[in-house]
Amino acid sequence: MTHLLEMRDLTLDFETEDGVAKVLDRVSFDIAEGEVFGLVGETGCGKTVTALAILRLLPRTALIRGGAIRFAGENLLAKSDGEMARLRGSRMTMVFQDPATSLNPTFPIGDQVARVLTVHEGLDRDEALARAAELFGRVGLPDAGGLLRRYPHELSGGMQQRVMIAMALACRPKLLIADEPTTAVDVTLQAQILDLLLTLKAEFGLSVLLITHNFGIVAETCDRVGSCMRAPWRRSGGRRTSSGSPSIPTHKASCGPSPGRAPADVPYSRSPGWSRASSSRPRDAASIPDASSR
Ligand SMILES: Nc1ncnc2c1ncn2[C@@H]1O[C@H](COP(=O)(O)OP(=O)(O)OP(=O)(O)O)[C@@H](O)[C@H]1O
Ligand SMILES: [Mg+2]
Repeated sequence: MTHLLEMRDLTLDFETEDGVAKVLDRVSFDIAEGEVFGLVGETGCGKTVTALAILRLLPRTALIRGGAIRFAGENLLAKSDGEMARLRGSRMTMVFQDPATSLNPTFPIGDQVARVLTVHEGLDRDEALARAAELFGRVGLPDAGGLLRRYPHELSGGMQQRVMIAMALACRPKLLIADEPTTAVDVTLQAQILDLLLTLKAEFGLSVLLITHNFGIVAETCDRVGSCMRAPWRRSGGRRTSSGSPSIPTHKASCGPSPGRAPADVPYSRSPGWSRASSSRPRDAASIPDASSR
């Protein structure tokens, strides 16, 4: 099986005023091409941090202690800020938990989706708006053309989340990270959004990292699942795999403040948009063991 994403032994702390908080401890998992991989775990165990680490959108206080993240065979921790900026939004994208805080309230939604296309695909504004309207139709938004000029606050939560999905898919990415994509919408809309994600996954040939608290969603949606706990360990099983047996991706996360600061600090910065680069380049982390040997 070809892995689109491989995370190996990612270990990450946060620098805080009270010392160093250990958040991820040797987190490892793979996502195959075309696979929906679920990541579950209690609140605060590090699911969102794991996702942000993949996109290199962590704040400067995040310290990568070791491990590697490989996307389509390339080590993301070795990439420059510019290279990461090009990857984000085009080849891997993320839909956040709360669309209301992810969309910019001061710009019409059409402009926001169009901007992704002008930055990453080089379309001019009219072409990008036309493509945005097409995407709105694809994600089931009514009156797609008229919606272009609407502002986020004029949309319902479900519509906002569909806009986020349209934006995420604008450049036909290979990997979509969906972090609790249905938490902010009601139960009926949850089912619709998940159906939409699965339809688009098949249509676009996407791999999906689906972060959720909801085991019902995992059972309905995911090919395999990994779980994490704050401490001391967790293990995981899979609903179904290509071999039909449960998979056990090794993903371990621990957290809690601990004093002192290790020397191998790798500062990151987080930027709010897909296309903006983090401002400091991470040091290449440890080499990735061959996935087939694990
Ligand atoms: N910038 C930061 N500085 C310090 N600690 C942080 C920072 N961001 C996250 N953390 C800590 O990292 C841990 C993991 O956070 P994360 O947001 O990944 O949790 P989560 O598993 O996504 O939780 P939830 O299910 O509630 O979304 C938490 O203990 C959190 O307090
Ligand atoms: Mg989270």
